[in-house]
Amino acid sequence: MNPVPVIYEDRVIGVIGMGYVGVTLAVGLADAGFQIYGVEKAEAVLEQLRQMKPGFYEQDLEEHLIRHLKSGRIQVSQEIPADQGIRTYIVTVGTPVGPDKKIRLEPIMEVGRQLADVLKDGDMVILRSTVKVGVTRHTVLPLLQAGGTSVDLAFCPERTVEGKALSELSTLPQIVSGLTESACLRAARLFSFLTPTVIKVGSLETAELAKLVSNTIRDVNFAFANEIALICEPLNINMSEIIHATTLHYPRCNLSAPGPVGGPCLEKDPYILAESLELHNVVPKLTLTGRKINEELPIRSAERIAEILRAYTDGKGIVQPEIAILGMAFKGSPETDDLRGSMAFPLIEAIRKQFPDAALRIFDPVISPGKLAKLSLDGVQVANTLEDAFKGTHVAVIQNNHPVFRSMPLHQLAGTMASPAIVYDFWNLFQGRDNDVRKFKYIALGARMDGEEQ
Ligand SMILES: NC(=O)c1ccc[n+]([C@@H]2O[C@H](COP(=O)([O-])OP(=O)(O)OC[C@H]3O[C@@H](n4cnc5c(N)ncnc54)[C@H](O)[C@@H]3O)[C@@H](O)[C@H]2O)c1
Repeated sequence: MNPVPVIYEDRVIGVIGMGYVGVTLAVGLADAGFQIYGVEKAEAVLEQLRQMKPGFYEQDLEEHLIRHLKSGRIQVSQEIPADQGIRTYIVTVGTPVGPDKKIRLEPIMEVGRQLADVLKDGDMVILRSTVKVGVTRHTVLPLLQAGGTSVDLAFCPERTVEGKALSELSTLPQIVSGLTESACLRAARLFSFLTPTVIKVGSLETAELAKLVSNTIRDVNFAFANEIALICEPLNINMSEIIHATTLHYPRCNLSAPGPVGGPCLEKDPYILAESLELHNVVPKLTLTGRKINEELPIRSAERIAEILRAYTDGKGIVQPEIAILGMAFKGSPETDDLRGSMAFPLIEAIRKQFPDAALRIFDPVISPGKLAKLSLDGVQVANTLEDAFKGTHVAVIQNNHPVFRSMPLHQLAGTMASPAIVYDFWNLFQGRDNDVRKFKYIALGARMDGEEQ
């Protein structure tokens, strides 16, 4: 990458919204040589940044952030600073969906109005938040134009994966679009200082859709894997064998591993894609079905756990089983402490439905017990250690794929469980290993039961 020239017109950037995307991007841009003014509305988030803490776990981030905050390469404030020579603003505020699964645009609209007050002719605004198709042109542009200035407007989506944001920011191709050709070229130049590959697309809407497609395809792929897992179970076939048989040296079957699918993006972006089509009376059936399969996975698994527990207690079940959920973050690898969209929550709900009197406990290798306790989940205890999580439980559920779980001494830990002891593994981490069925029952998603003959 070329160094950012000192006289480059877009060297000073305002990043509006210092959440996960804003902070990682600010650091990536500062690493590349840009001067960053981060703007954050929430006092609590801002205070953390003032104390040089990112407010979330991301590999290598804290060290870079501290360096840039100390040197002044990144500065933070609650208001958009005037007179700092900012010519480009990148908008990274959240775009959650509500309970109705419709995108909430208020944060973006608020920023649009704030920017209208400070923009000068010739400034550039880059929208980076994920939006439904058409929002940049039909929602953001009119708000910016209300200020009476002429600005370059671009939409350049964020596509990093949590846990690898910093390395991906400097390696992933950046999709770039602009309201005008010159806005597109200007945004493309800016991102060319960050990454070697910039993909210029023909319209704002193309880039908006490309972002939604980039996430939805993952959701649908995982849903297909989960569907195959749920097909394998009644057929008493191991999905891991299906994956091995279909993918080894065979280039036309990229079946992924099954498992819980969540997180702040996949839980919502398929819905935002669907909402983008409402005006055109088109329903993306595969997209919405995939989402439903992924959302229902915890329910199916809780039902299976209940069935197995009954089978191992001569149909009686256990009145007050102790159940541990291992891994509360929405994923374990790359590791994160992000609880947004984690399937651990619907899993707890589904387990409660099957076992109304169960005593639940939770454990996470990244999120501290103190932070888990702050979730204040009704009737749920927090285990301080993995050992505490296993001790005396009837059921241990491996909810995410953190490497700690893959390498844990399962036999030893299961030996401390109550009787009967069941380990339910969403991630097939121990599938095919020598599980001692006399000590505990090991069941993996999409796997036939140990000891059962086909
Ligand atoms: N999290 C991811 O991995 C990821 C990846 C790709 C894209 N995205 C998209 O990027 C966007 C941001 O995601 P995020 O996870 O960083 O969200 P976030 O909620 O963590 O962060 C947004 C921040 O913006 C702040 N904010 C809101 N309104 C503001 C305003 N008017 N002025 C200043 N600050 C304001 C909020 O207080 C919050 O701290 C979303 O559209 C998301 O879908 C996220």
